[in-house]
Amino acid sequence: MGRVLVTGGAGYIGSHVMVVLGRKGYRCVCLDNFSNSSPRAVERAQVLAPGAIEAVEADIRDTEALRRVLAGADISSVIHLAGLKAVGESVEKPALYRDNNVRGTQCLLEALAGSGVRTFVFSSSATVYGNATAMPIGEDAPTAPASPYGENKLEIERMLAKLAGEDPSWRVASLRYFNPVGAHESGTIGEHPSGTPNNLMPYVCQAAAGLRGPLRVFGTDYPTPDGTGIRDYIHVMDLAEGHMAALTALPLTPPGTVMTVNLGTGMGHSVLEVVDTFERVNGVKVPRELAGRRPGDVPICYADCSRARQLLRWSSRRTLEDMCRDAWRWQVLNPAGY
Ligand code: NAD
Ligand code: WQD
Repeated sequence: MGRVLVTGGAGYIGSHVMVVLGRKGYRCVCLDNFSNSSPRAVERAQVLAPGAIEAVEADIRDTEALRRVLAGADISSVIHLAGLKAVGESVEKPALYRDNNVRGTQCLLEALAGSGVRTFVFSSSATVYGNATAMPIGEDAPTAPASPYGENKLEIERMLAKLAGEDPSWRVASLRYFNPVGAHESGTIGEHPSGTPNNLMPYVCQAAAGLRGPLRVFGTDYPTPDGTGIRDYIHVMDLAEGHMAALTALPLTPPGTVMTVNLGTGMGHSVLEVVDTFERVNGVKVPRELAGRRPGDVPICYADCSRARQLLRWSSRRTLEDMCRDAWRWQVLNPAGY
């Protein structure tokens, strides 16, 4: 079995993916430019999966560097996570996002074209659905991304589908993640956004630790049981296992297969449910205040996960309690991140 090239492997999700793969006997090459991560994440992943992970510092837009890696590393598949992911920043800097995310993927594919690697797993996002109204969201729901970041994801999905349509030696899985949260149960790898966290769980962790002001609960008048927004939070370790399931499933599919698969739990939880669960399982207070709706937020978003069960033989196992416990353990052990 050849190695798995994991672009963006030093990031939040990539580090967990490499640990899951490494502990199941896969060997990984982590390729990252550390623009939004730390080499320490890779070192810690190496401790959790001894002997399984090699690290290369490079940018996915550097086709020559990619070719060098592909020439010497016995790679047989790619999990492509490298990308910029801040929705708000993508609105301010659409050209940067297009260059890094879309052109970056083109460069990666160009480098792969000259290698034998034809198995490709891509990190897409539920953000491609935009303001979907019918719940749960199935993969055939209309797409309508509401940000340049979301448009990048859809453009890349289409680029990959076109590639496999023209050259059936490719096998592609585009995985649409819902809301990844939590951390490895050891508490040694996890999510540490730079600056003030935009996402709910990292903010809750930092507010509970007294590092931030009270959590602002964005919107209390949504058409939901408690009035706060509902999302499909998925434990990052479940998500990582979903990637391994995709890598296992793809080689067994017909040539030219392109699968687009939601990775979520199929369950929605409100903001207040998350905060209350966090307080209960961790025995800490999360100071909070009620605030107006955050522009651009949808009221409710959760996945139909039947395709993942059917095609990947995968479904999430961990509960909201697990997500809150593991997120807090990481926070307590690493108050300043890496
Ligand atoms: P992250 O920022 O922690 O990880 C991304 C990694 O990619 C970082 O280590 C960064 O340094 C690296 N990177 C960025 N541009 C690069 C480039 N040009 N060359 C090499 N490396 C580069 O983010 P994450 O949360 O781990 O997300 C991973 C992927 O999953 C991203 O593509 C993101 O869009 C996607 N995704 C994330 C979420 C989420 O909520 N976290 C949801 C849906 C999809
Ligand atoms: C969740 C809920 C907020 C912060 C984003 C991206 C999406 C995907 C995942 C990449 C909402 C509420 C939040 C706070 C709050 N990323 N909230 N107070 O917006 O569902 O998705 O991350 O692909 O593209 O848009 O996640 O964690 O920001 O918000 O009340 O301080 O928590 O209003 O209801 P979101 P989130």
